[in-house]
Amino acid sequence: SHQIPEFCDAGYVDSSCLSSQQSNSKILIKGGTVVNAHSREVADVYIEDGIISSVRPNMVVGDDVTVLDATGKYVMPGGIDPHTHMEMEFMGTATIDDFFSGQAAALAGGTTMHIDFVIPVNGSLTMGLESYSHKAKKACMDYGFHMAITKWDEVVSREMELMVSEKGINSFKFFMAYKGALMISDELLLQGLDKCKSLGALAMVHAENGDAVAEGQTKMINLGITGPEGHALSRPPVLEAEATARAIHLAAFVNTPLYIVHVMSIDAMEEIAQARKRGQRVIGEPVVSGLVLDDSWLWHPDFTTAAKYVMSPPIRKSGHAEALQAALAGGILQLVGTDHCAFNSTQKALGIDDFRKIPNGVNGVEERMHLIWDSMVESGKISVNDYVRITSTECAQIFNIYPRKGAILEGSDADIIILNPNSSFEIAAHSHHSKSDTNVFEGRGGKGKVEVTISRGKVVWKDGELKVEPGYGRYINMPPFSYLFDGIDKVDAAYVTSLRAPVQRSVST
Ligand code: URP
Ligand code: ZN
Ligand code: ZN
Ligand code: ZN
Repeated sequence: SHQIPEFCDAGYVDSSCLSSQQSNSKILIKGGTVVNAHSREVADVYIEDGIISSVRPNMVVGDDVTVLDATGKYVMPGGIDPHTHMEMEFMGTATIDDFFSGQAAALAGGTTMHIDFVIPVNGSLTMGLESYSHKAKKACMDYGFHMAITKWDEVVSREMELMVSEKGINSFKFFMAYKGALMISDELLLQGLDKCKSLGALAMVHAENGDAVAEGQTKMINLGITGPEGHALSRPPVLEAEATARAIHLAAFVNTPLYIVHVMSIDAMEEIAQARKRGQRVIGEPVVSGLVLDDSWLWHPDFTTAAKYVMSPPIRKSGHAEALQAALAGGILQLVGTDHCAFNSTQKALGIDDFRKIPNGVNGVEERMHLIWDSMVESGKISVNDYVRITSTECAQIFNIYPRKGAILEGSDADIIILNPNSSFEIAAHSHHSKSDTNVFEGRGGKGKVEVTISRGKVVWKDGELKVEPGYGRYINMPPFSYLFDGIDKVDAAYVTSLRAPVQRSVST
């Protein structure tokens, strides 16, 4: 039902469309500065059969090898986006980028892997995975899955075991918002945290107080505020902070690691900072929209312009983005995602009379690597090593696929970008690769350009041209018990021992 040729008209594919799915080409990347999270050196990178086979200076190779000159440029692990929604059914419609168009966009922007969220079908994880596996048959880039949990019973509990033991999923997401749709109760969250812990799977939360959001929305509508600005006004930072703190405290009670997706406010970030200061294992993921935009767009007089900025939690007032960047630079937040969840202007217009019906989500999968480079490396806020860490390595480590992904090391998958720090990028809907007709970063540009993207040993982006094939992307199994689980059992054992300490208690007569 999903033949390769049907995608050959998409405009992305050259005559090699039907050629072998496995790349046998040999590539030498010559003379660049090879950067990993904890090292950098001027060296050549030799790739064979999709794998990095050697990293050292001044290699000499035969003439059957394609040589890419990277002199004066950075050679870095391809980006890994921990947070996307391709072809997700949501708010009465479906996100416009599917696994092919979204991944093509990603590759053009220097991202070589993403982790998407499987949404269960009527609460069934098995049916959800079946649906997403089908959607992902057209993948042209490697990908993994997180799994959302939207209801609780014995079946779901057993399906979680199956997802971890058989299906390569090691993370589960709980929505504390979207009341009446995806939202879960504290009781379910607690059961989910317990189950995640026992499976060595990472619990992730969308942290907003969904009950309070619903109240806030009614309040705005009653005040006659029906436009996109009502979205921001109805769900202020305090609701994000409350849910972030609640999830953190429940994870502490259970003693299991926690991952907070799309940290959008100073308020939520401060809760994460406090938890980490206490020694708790909490990971904070800001997203590129939250790191470079502010909410003023939501007041724009043109509905189409304003509506494209509607996402949850909302993009915040000026000042939050700068603080989130600083927290990322300082290690309070650990990695950058996008929450790529693109809707076109027709879909956004579902909420023309009522901001509650505007599909929530913004783009970013193509823009993340460039915008983070420009706003954080080019500006001097972080090192090139830190750039690699927050865009790639940290994600690979958290989701337990390092060093297959997230590194330029012998034996790693050849997912590599060549970035020219002296070139520049520009963002516009007319030239981006997403299917959306709008872009929340429209008109932005900056220094640093991804000139080459190599996906598992195949040059897929070069000279402004994409060469991608549906079906080339592979599903990446992610095993449980990442480093975040090291020692959890020891802390539990010490706690139980402390409970058994004898109580000196005298009986009064
Ligand atoms: O507005 C957003 N963030 N849409 C995507 C779904 C989610 O909450 O991650
Ligand atoms: Zn099919
Ligand atoms: Zn979310
Ligand atoms: Zn999301």
